[in-house]
Amino acid sequence: MPLTCSQLSVAYGRRMVLDGFDLALEKGEIRALIGPNGSGKSTALQALAGLIRPAAGSVAIDGRPVDAMPRRELARHLAYLPQQPTAPDEMTVAQLVRQGRFAHVGLFRGYGPDDEQAIRWALECTGLSGLADRSLTELSGGERQRAWISAALAQEAQILLLDEPTTFLDIGYQVEVLDLVYRLSRDRGVAIVMAIHDLNQAMSVCDRISLLERGSLVFDGDPHALAGTSLIEQVFRVHGTFVPIAADAPPHFDVELARRSSFALQRPRTASGR
Ligand SMILES: Nc1ncnc2c1ncn2[C@@H]1O[C@H](COP(=O)(O)OP(=O)(O)O)[C@@H](O)[C@H]1O
Ligand SMILES: [Mg+2]
Repeated sequence: MPLTCSQLSVAYGRRMVLDGFDLALEKGEIRALIGPNGSGKSTALQALAGLIRPAAGSVAIDGRPVDAMPRRELARHLAYLPQQPTAPDEMTVAQLVRQGRFAHVGLFRGYGPDDEQAIRWALECTGLSGLADRSLTELSGGERQRAWISAALAQEAQILLLDEPTTFLDIGYQVEVLDLVYRLSRDRGVAIVMAIHDLNQAMSVCDRISLLERGSLVFDGDPHALAGTSLIEQVFRVHGTFVPIAADAPPHFDVELARRSSFALQRPRTASGR
């Protein structure tokens, strides 16, 4: 099992923001991590990436605890793309992607032909070969997002943690990223955990879904099983129905757009009338 954790908990100060999170990620599995804003998705990914020390529980890669693993070794196994990654302004796309490869580069050997090829491949996969020499500040939000994805790909890790990788992308690139995720899992056996807001995209691309509500895991199963519950309505406090779209595809959640306002937009007038 590439990535596992059991009863993982994270607290900020006294506040528990992730409480007893379990995951058993299989090789080649795509796991969608969903939940309302603030439910703990990013926290869970950071803890899985070994970046925050859990209050309880531990994370293991192939049975080895990540907190005992040297950083470079961890980076050869696991690539993590944060929700809001940052890099020095003047950095170019090529430099960023090169940096993604650092864990493979021998301390005295430098970048070899295999590394150069991995970098070219990562740029090609994300359609950035033509923008390699641009600085990150000269890119659109979507292009920058793809540059970060490219850097994670250059790492050629067997576990990929992506925090909302399709945010800021237009629908065409959203589909491309999801397609890339799908091919990485199926063709290369990469195991992926991806926080994602679009429920229907999550349902159609993932093998399993983990649903978080206020730090607790309230569902862990396949999309069809989720569609058999009313959890989405409860957790996100919306009305909607799962509608079948094709025999072999999970149903789509059709959300009801409430046109009834729960509060009056008209500001009450003061007694003076003005
Ligand atoms: N560095 C931090 N310090 C204190 N609280 C934090 C920190 N990061 C996140 N939180 C809190 O933890 C909760 C979970 O946040 P997060 O994991 O970012 O949720 P999500 O990614 O699902 O929107 C939120 O209530 C958030 O305010
Ligand atoms: Mg988040």
